[in-house]
Amino acid sequence: MSHLQSLRGRRICLVGSTSGIARVVARELVARGAILHLGARDLEEARRDAVDLELRGGLPVSVGRFEALDLGSHAAFLAEARQRMGGLDCVLVAFGILGDQERARRDFADARQIMDLNYLAPASVLSHAAAMLEDQGTGGMLVALGSVAGDRGRPGNYTYGSAKAGLHAYLQGLRGRLASAGIRVLTVKPGPVDTPMTFGMGFPGGRLTAQPEAVARGIVRAMERGSEVVYVPCFWGLIMGVLKAIPESLFKRMKL
Ligand SMILES: NC(=O)c1ccc[n+]([C@@H]2O[C@H](COP(=O)([O-])OP(=O)(O)OC[C@H]3O[C@@H](n4cnc5c(N)ncnc54)[C@H](OP(=O)(O)O)[C@@H]3O)[C@@H](O)[C@H]2O)c1
Repeated sequence: MSHLQSLRGRRICLVGSTSGIARVVARELVARGAILHLGARDLEEARRDAVDLELRGGLPVSVGRFEALDLGSHAAFLAEARQRMGGLDCVLVAFGILGDQERARRDFADARQIMDLNYLAPASVLSHAAAMLEDQGTGGMLVALGSVAGDRGRPGNYTYGSAKAGLHAYLQGLRGRLASAGIRVLTVKPGPVDTPMTFGMGFPGGRLTAQPEAVARGIVRAMERGSEVVYVPCFWGLIMGVLKAIPESLFKRMKL
């Protein structure tokens, strides 16, 4: 007997739908019969994606403008998504920026933008989405893309990593709060992925960079399984387990 939850007919709002990872997730979702609303700041790009997804899935895909830094617009954006899809079962938060740690070190305005886009704005969307699903009283699912960078602070990306760590903790709290309402909360922790975010970057462990197709399949599988925290690809769970176990006194001397 399968314990997978079918995503067929699920009304899913993708927030930051033009992200390299979200685009492939969207294809996996329409292939499973999900109904999508795409939220992106580039509405034209989202419309082009919607046409492609409609051809692939044979179901209507709606779009709405989403600006992450305009926190005051998030509730109305989600309300429109629900109205366009005729209901809301799941919100998947995919937007974010990596930023530049060197610039962020020199100018806190840069650091703040990284924090705003990777923690404050996702928390705002999730907070409104949680309230909506709770009010509906029909269960549902919240999904957000964190990062392995949030598991341990490193000199090379601690501004981004700290924002993702905050997001992980926020999701953990939501998971506890929403469990009794039958609302699942999935934290996705990808390792480096070959998308516009990492274009031209030399990562430590660059050979471990994954293709978005593999990452998207991992995310959708975790949604079907009702997982709570998932590393994609899964070997990052092992790597981060080892990295987290290294004592601070030694870790600070390692060139990671
Ligand atoms: N790629 C990786 O190696 C990696 C690893 C771990 C975690 N992640 C996380 O996975 C998620 C997706 O990453 P990705 O690699 O797919 O990124 P990506 O291709 O660079 O896409 C980033 C997305 O964020 C959107 N965005 C940026 N600023 C925005 C704003 N102010 N308002 C609305 N949308 C905004 C972008 O919109 P535009 O298209 O308009 O620019 C784009 O849709 C992110 O949260 C990222 O932190 C990525």
